[in-house]
Amino acid sequence: MFIRKKPSWQISENEVTPEGVYLNRRKFMMGAAATVGAVGSAAAVHQLANAATERTLMPLKHSKSAFDPSETLTPYEAVTQYNNFYEFGTDKSDPAEHAWRLNPKPWEIKVEGMAEITGTFALEDVIDFSALEERIYRLRCVEGWSMVIPWVGVPLASVLKKFSPSADARYVAFETLADRKQMPGVRGFLSSLDWPYREGLRMDEAMNELAFLAVGLYGKELPNQNGAPVRLVVPWKYGFKSIKSIVKIAFVKSEPTATWNQMQPNEYGFYSNVNPEVDHPRWSQRTERRIGEFGKRKTLMFNGYEEQVAQLYAGMDLKKYY
Ligand code: MTE
Repeated sequence: MFIRKKPSWQISENEVTPEGVYLNRRKFMMGAAATVGAVGSAAAVHQLANAATERTLMPLKHSKSAFDPSETLTPYEAVTQYNNFYEFGTDKSDPAEHAWRLNPKPWEIKVEGMAEITGTFALEDVIDFSALEERIYRLRCVEGWSMVIPWVGVPLASVLKKFSPSADARYVAFETLADRKQMPGVRGFLSSLDWPYREGLRMDEAMNELAFLAVGLYGKELPNQNGAPVRLVVPWKYGFKSIKSIVKIAFVKSEPTATWNQMQPNEYGFYSNVNPEVDHPRWSQRTERRIGEFGKRKTLMFNGYEEQVAQLYAGMDLKKYY
């Protein structure tokens, strides 16, 4: 089923310079959908897609929006080879080189805290793989580079609601796997961060329509280096909020620990909304380098998603709550 209504945040796939691989996939998907039309089952489409092209996911909903010629999809190669995933090392090329050690199947997520339903769940019980949709979002890293990525996944709100969080749960906290055997960056005394990698959102942020749990990109399952099998995507915030390879979700009353905020609170705030008006103490946040482009482009307030998220911060001093 395709959604006809176009939300204003959606960068359509028409407005981007399509990748060959991506176009081929979509062509394939249309073929697959037509073939299975007779059978009439979305699950069958999914199965067929998986069988014919290994590790291909079927985004069942894709929204269109007005053409914006300034936005180009970042090539698949860049999205999957220029990464930050410190569990595999601190260089941009480390995740692509070492993340083959991660085994994302089977995967379990522990859900705890202030909710009616808690426990340890198989990924398939947390994510409804028959309701996948595609979201083309900008990703702005706090370091000053950005990408445009076609994610596949489900709205975070749809997942959180399943567990019936209590009204007292004001935040949701996330944790990444921290397994020395699979993650060479987690080993040793010189290990760069206090593991596990942790992040959090205020509950109203988590329930915002933009907050997304991705299980794929470019129509394929998430490569390990991008946070397989499931990672957060919060496109109005700096990339480090988009925590990868999630193994724990906790509903909590107070602001949870967030890794970078804990490490260097004067440089990385809990909110970390993309904001060209608030510089990082060591560099300006006014511009960014879009991977694959020459020169710099202006960084947009809330990474261009002001219309969807500005109301979450009404009355807040964003220089104080950076
Ligand atoms: N999640 C974990 N667990 N570990 C990390 O090092 N890096 C963050 C974020 N999520 C990171 C993480 C940062 S700084 C960014 S910019 C994005 O992942 C990068 O996502 P990408 O590699 O898919 O582009």
